[in-house]
Amino acid sequence: MVRTGSRPVGRVVLTACLVAAALAACTGPPPDADRARRGAADAGDPYVPGRGNGGYDVAAYRLRIRYDPADDRLTGHATITATATAGLSRFNLDLSGLTVGAVRVDGAQARYAREGDELVVTPARGLDRGARFAVDVEYAGVPQPVESTTLGVGGLLATADGAVALGQPDSASTWFPVNDHPSDKATYDVEVTVPDGLAALGNGVPAGRASAGGWTTWHWVERAPMASYLSTLVIGDYRVATGTHRGKPMVTAVAASLPADGPAAASLARTGEIADFLADRFGPYPFESYGGIALAERRISYALETQSRPVYGPGFFRSGRPDTGVVAHELAHQWFGDSVSLARWSDIWLNEGFATYAEWLWLEHDGGRTVAQTVADRHAATDWSQPSVDPGRANMFGDAVYQRGALAVHALRRTVGDDAFFRILRAWTTERRGGNATTADFVALAERVSGRRLAALLDAWLVGGTAPALP
Ligand code: TRP
Ligand code: ZN
Repeated sequence: MVRTGSRPVGRVVLTACLVAAALAACTGPPPDADRARRGAADAGDPYVPGRGNGGYDVAAYRLRIRYDPADDRLTGHATITATATAGLSRFNLDLSGLTVGAVRVDGAQARYAREGDELVVTPARGLDRGARFAVDVEYAGVPQPVESTTLGVGGLLATADGAVALGQPDSASTWFPVNDHPSDKATYDVEVTVPDGLAALGNGVPAGRASAGGWTTWHWVERAPMASYLSTLVIGDYRVATGTHRGKPMVTAVAASLPADGPAAASLARTGEIADFLADRFGPYPFESYGGIALAERRISYALETQSRPVYGPGFFRSGRPDTGVVAHELAHQWFGDSVSLARWSDIWLNEGFATYAEWLWLEHDGGRTVAQTVADRHAATDWSQPSVDPGRANMFGDAVYQRGALAVHALRRTVGDDAFFRILRAWTTERRGGNATTADFVALAERVSGRRLAALLDAWLVGGTAPALP
């Protein structure tokens, strides 16, 4: 689903090459009409080689998943509705591990092949540019998570009582076939079947629960466009609380092995209050449901802003005290990252700089350190040789992205004043809602809304090699 922002560039080069080929001047691969009709095998994003695909745009994922913690086995049926953005003789999906049993395109059996983490689908008939099509994939197996020293554990991970699926920059392909790049957002309709007595949580609005023959199916619907890395699946023994907040469902879940009156439960209980605080500053909450999930699984060392329902690892609450800073951070991502998403991972400061700044705003409001104190400390501690924009894959979650990014947000605020600053944030979340955007898009919007030239200022704060003086 594409609403705004840029598309991966890989195919553009190929098209130019074909035009050039007609003029007998092509220096790239030999002109080959059949090859041109193959969808690209990745999105062209160097932070996630092989992830994402070209040639189509997904509108919706419909997933029917069964997971049995007794043997960690997942059985899945994915129906993916998409539009071809080029004529296609074949196209790729991302799928890591698992065994494919059948693939159909528009109901007709399709040929398929596995090439590493790619599922290559050759429909019985080629797809015309602009054609809307549906892909059915039946698959099964024991999902294998990806362990990375710099990016944590990602993917579907079996736990003591069930499983959790989450991770950034990618994780979805370990549990369903997907165009695994944030530039292709889509809606999700997910049914998860687990043994009776276990919870199965997902993104979005709860759409029913039914039990039959010892198994319970939990149904979740996310109607706002969602990037694939923001999808989550959490299965296990949880205390699930279902209520409403401002007329929308609020579903929180705390691992049953964590105390009911402990810091994780107390922190998640403030979700509605914190979301309202942020909505007063960023504009209306962008989704149809609220919530949060607190895990006991210690291999998850981070929190993640999974859409409408962030997931929190146990480390945040280990001190015994509530941590509302992390809740404010993950909720701020609902505007910055989830509703307005990256077009490419090198712009990740657009997510983390704003979420970190929101955390500083919330802590000040909640009676903690003032923003001015935090800014002074972070300014003194920053290594200005490390850039916020394009930090490199290994530094996606480094201080240059989070802390330096938040300092840049504060410098913008001090330069344009509170009134223009919050108008900029609201214009961003309104105009780009549900879409994708880049750093250049943000700078252009900030200049337009404030009526000032800001490129040099933001450049100094985001990527300059020396410390700018605090405005
Ligand atoms: N994006 C998450 C946040 O800021 C953090 C995160 C997700 C992360 N995955 C990670 C941090 C892996 C380090 C490693 O809320
Ligand atoms: Zn974050």
